[in-house]
Amino acid sequence: MFLWVHYADMVTALVQLPVAVVAWWAATGRRATAERPSRTSAVAFAVLLGAAVLRLAAGVVLLRWGWEFAGPRLVWVAPALLVAATAYLGWLRPTGRRPGGAGAVASAAGIVSVAALAQLAGVGAAAVTGVAIVAASAMGYAYRRLPRRPVPARAGRWRAAVRAAVGVVAVAAATVGLSMASALPARSSMSGGAVDDGGGAVAGHQHSGGISVTELTGADGGEAAVRRFTLTAQEATVRLDSGAQVAAWTFNGVAPGPQLVVRQGDLVEVTLVNRLPGAGVTVHWHGVDVPNAMDGVAGVTQDAVAPGATFVYRFRASRAGTYWYHSHEMASVQVRRGLFGALVVLPRDAPARQDAVDETVLRHTWGDEDGVATLGLAAGVQRRSVPVGRPVRLRLVNSDGKPATFTVTGAPVRVVAIDGTGVHEPGVLPGVRILVGGGARYDVEFTMPDAPVTLRADGPGIVYSPSGDAGPDRAAKEPALLDPARYGTPAATPFAAGSHFDRRFVLRIDERLGFYDGRPAVRYTLNDASFPDVPMLMVAGGDLVEVTYVNRSGQHHPMHLHGHHMLVLSRDGRATTGSPWWVDTLDVGPGETFRVAFRADNPGLWMDHCHDLEHAANGMILHLGYTGVTSPFLTGSGTANHPE
Ligand code: C2O
Ligand code: CU
Repeated sequence: MFLWVHYADMVTALVQLPVAVVAWWAATGRRATAERPSRTSAVAFAVLLGAAVLRLAAGVVLLRWGWEFAGPRLVWVAPALLVAATAYLGWLRPTGRRPGGAGAVASAAGIVSVAALAQLAGVGAAAVTGVAIVAASAMGYAYRRLPRRPVPARAGRWRAAVRAAVGVVAVAAATVGLSMASALPARSSMSGGAVDDGGGAVAGHQHSGGISVTELTGADGGEAAVRRFTLTAQEATVRLDSGAQVAAWTFNGVAPGPQLVVRQGDLVEVTLVNRLPGAGVTVHWHGVDVPNAMDGVAGVTQDAVAPGATFVYRFRASRAGTYWYHSHEMASVQVRRGLFGALVVLPRDAPARQDAVDETVLRHTWGDEDGVATLGLAAGVQRRSVPVGRPVRLRLVNSDGKPATFTVTGAPVRVVAIDGTGVHEPGVLPGVRILVGGGARYDVEFTMPDAPVTLRADGPGIVYSPSGDAGPDRAAKEPALLDPARYGTPAATPFAAGSHFDRRFVLRIDERLGFYDGRPAVRYTLNDASFPDVPMLMVAGGDLVEVTYVNRSGQHHPMHLHGHHMLVLSRDGRATTGSPWWVDTLDVGPGETFRVAFRADNPGLWMDHCHDLEHAANGMILHLGYTGVTSPFLTGSGTANHPE
C-alpha cells in the first residue's frame, strides 16, 4: 500500500514506517514506571507529528505551484496524522494505571478502520484527518475517565509480544475483509446500466422489445468490401534498435501491427484470426465511429475471439484522418505487449502532391510503464532523407496511457488535425511542442527546408534532412506548447455551448487508496464508483448531450468515448476560441474541468473510459447506453471477457 506513490512519498513512508513501529511498541509493550510517560513513546510522537506537519506544509506550498504535485501528497497527510494520534494516545495514558496496551491497540485499530472506511466511502483527505483527530480526542478523554487501578510497574515481554500479535492479526483480518468486500461480480452485463449481482441473471435477456448490439451493424447490405485485410494475432520476438529483444504479442508478426491505409468512403473488411496461446483477442477501431457491433469490445459488443477462432469486422471509413486499432480484451496488457497498429484514412480527393511524405509516428513504451520508449521500434534518433521543398505530414500517435510531449523544430509547422479531424485554418508556428494524451493523435505538416527538421518525442526522435545524415538539433529552443483551445480559427459547428442540451452529465474523477477486485490498488472513480458500478450515461437516439469532466485527481486522464466525436466547449470555465476542437480522446489534466458535447447519433452500448489503460483496469470505465439497446455479452472473472 505504501509502494504505489511517487518517489518522495516512498521516502517519507520509509521514514514513517519504522517510527510507527517503535511508537506502537512503546505504546503497547514497554510500560513506563512511576508517573512519567514512556520516553520512547513521547519521542516517537514528536517525530511523527513533526513529519505530518512538515508534509502538510509541503502540501500547502505545492498547492500554490500545482495540484499535480500537491494532490497525492495531501492524501498522505491523513495516515501520518493517524499514526501520530495513535502514538499520542500511548503517551497520554496515565502511567501505572489502567488502561494499558490493549486500550492503545483498540484505539489504533478503531482510528485506522474509521480512516479506511472514510477512504473507501470516498471522503476526502481533509475529512479523514478531521475524523481522526476528533476520534483520538474522544478516546483520550474516555481513557482519563476510566477507573484507575494499580498495575505492576513492569509488563512482561511476552505480554507485549501477545499484544503485538493481536495487533498484527487485527490488521491482517481487516485487510482480508476489505479485500473480500471489494471483489467484483463474476459476471456483469452492460445492458440498461444494471449490474448483475453474480446470481446468474442476465440483464440482456430480460429486456423485451429492445435491440441487441449484435444487430447494430450499420447499413451493411453485405456488398463486397473494397479493402480487405487479415490481422492474425500471434506471438513474435521483435527487435528494438538497441538490439534488445521483446517477446511481443503482434498482429501478423510485426509490432506495431501493419499500418492499414484506406480511402475515405471505402467499405473495409478485416478478418481477425487468433493464434495467441491461451488468450482471447478483439480489435477496436480507436477513433472510427463504426457501427456498434463492429466496435470490438470484449463482453460488450462481442465475445473475445478465442484461440483458433476468427471474427470479421466490416465498416465504412467515412471520415478521413489518423486513427489506430488495438485489442480491447485485457487491453492494459495486450496493447502494451504490441497488439496495436495505425489506421490511416486518406481523404476522398487525391492529395495536392503525389510526392508528399506521409509518415505515421507511433510512440510506444515496451515493457512496463517505465520501459523503453520508442517511435516504432527505435528508442534512439532515426535519420531520414527528404528532398528540399517536399511537403511532409507527420501523424503523431501516442499508444501509451501517459501523455507524451512531441516537439518539432527546424521549420515553420502547422498542426493540421487532432484525433483525425482537420483543424480549421491552422496558423503557421515557428516550431511546436504538443502534449499528446494517451490514445490521442495530432497531425503536423511542414515543407522540407534546406536544413534539418527535428522531431523529438520525450526521448526517441527523428531527424529529417535533405542529405539524410544530419544529427538532432540540440540547440533549438523549446517551442511554445500548443493550446488546442486557442489554435486555428472558429468555424460553424452543428451545436455550440449555447445549444439546448437534452442530457447533461457531470463526471467527477477521483483517485483513492483502497481495494479493487480483491487487490490493494489505487482505485479510480467516476462519481465515486468504479467499473462495473458506474451508472451508464443513458441517452436516446438524436439527443444532444453535454458531459463535464472534472478531474480532482493528481493525474492525467485521457477520456476516450467510443463511437462518437466530442466537441470541446470549454476548459476550466473558459470557452474555446480557436478552430472547432473535435476529439475522441480528451486528455483531462490534474485539476482540469472540460465541458464537451456530442450528438447521440450512433446507437449502441459504448465504452467511455480512461485510455491510461492501467487506470481503466482499476475501475475507470463507464458506458454510454442508448435506451432499448441490450447486450447478450458478459464481462467478469466468470467469463472469457475482460475488456479492460
Ligand atoms: Cu483505444 Cu476503449 O479504446
Ligand atoms: Cu486515468
